[in-house]
Amino acid sequence: MKPNEPSRTALTIARQRAAHQLLDRGSILCDPFAMKILHEDEKDVLQFSNAHPLAAIGRLFTAARSRIAEDALSRAVERGVRQIVILGAGLDTFALRNPHSALEIRIYEVDHPATQAWKRERLAEAQIALPPWLSLVPVDFERDNVAQKLVAAGLQQNSPAFFTWLGVVPYLTQNAIGRTLDTMSSIHNSEVVFDYMEPPEASSQELRQFEKERTEQLEKMDERSVSRFEPARMRAILRSHGFCAIEDIGYEEIVSRFGRAVQGLAPGHLGLHVVHARPLSFS
Ligand SMILES: C[S@@+](CC[C@H](N)C(=O)[O-])C[C@H]1O[C@@H](n2cnc3c(N)ncnc32)[C@H](O)[C@@H]1O
Repeated sequence: MKPNEPSRTALTIARQRAAHQLLDRGSILCDPFAMKILHEDEKDVLQFSNAHPLAAIGRLFTAARSRIAEDALSRAVERGVRQIVILGAGLDTFALRNPHSALEIRIYEVDHPATQAWKRERLAEAQIALPPWLSLVPVDFERDNVAQKLVAAGLQQNSPAFFTWLGVVPYLTQNAIGRTLDTMSSIHNSEVVFDYMEPPEASSQELRQFEKERTEQLEKMDERSVSRFEPARMRAILRSHGFCAIEDIGYEEIVSRFGRAVQGLAPGHLGLHVVHARPLSFS
């Protein structure tokens, strides 16, 4: 990311979520705020989503990782978790849709200061008020102490917390990833859902060109995906940062769970994964 500019990929992901509402009728993730927060015309969103013949893959993965995270989050809330932390929130709208508002949960959206300031502007332009259960916490994962910032914003470190960290890990250095994992595992009974990418060679022949074009596009946006992991390496990293119960859901599993709900999905294998992990302290 450029230091003083909002994340361009946050806008791309928000457009994918909006296109999923228009083209797939929100069949994986129903998000009535997806178009509102974008504040763009339907025809522009459709043009964006038709710009690449393989755009359906982006819609599928964006919707599916949020759905997996939000389903796990709901189960955590049923077990009594009342603190939700959305790391690298971008234009995520979970806090606006919060289905648990009667249960006095607190939601912390953590993001790069420039992206967060831009989100505030977008919300104001779309005349969407910040809900009372939401705290916005500006943090640069590369420079700041995430735990300190969250505690200063009101997070209770001795109460359980559910973290989502979607579409962020690929853009961070391994040091920032490790420190953030330590923050999460230090909280008793915490859980996280996040996604990561394998090196490009993991993709099948038919999707490798898509992968190459995506990487070139990211470079133009100055948001390189710097951290990619083989699944065994990711598992080892999680273990070394105190996580034990690890469910790693690969792209093919995601396609078989959700693929039918997305129009025009191309076949093939991409090295994309969604992980649900809990630390050793979980009881
Ligand atoms: C691809 S977007 C994903 C947004 C959101 N999670 C979603 O699914 O819509 C990546 C997000 O990571 C954030 N990010 C990237 N590098 C960061 C850093 N060093 N510190 C804080 N946030 C960062 C960006 O600001 C952006 O919101």
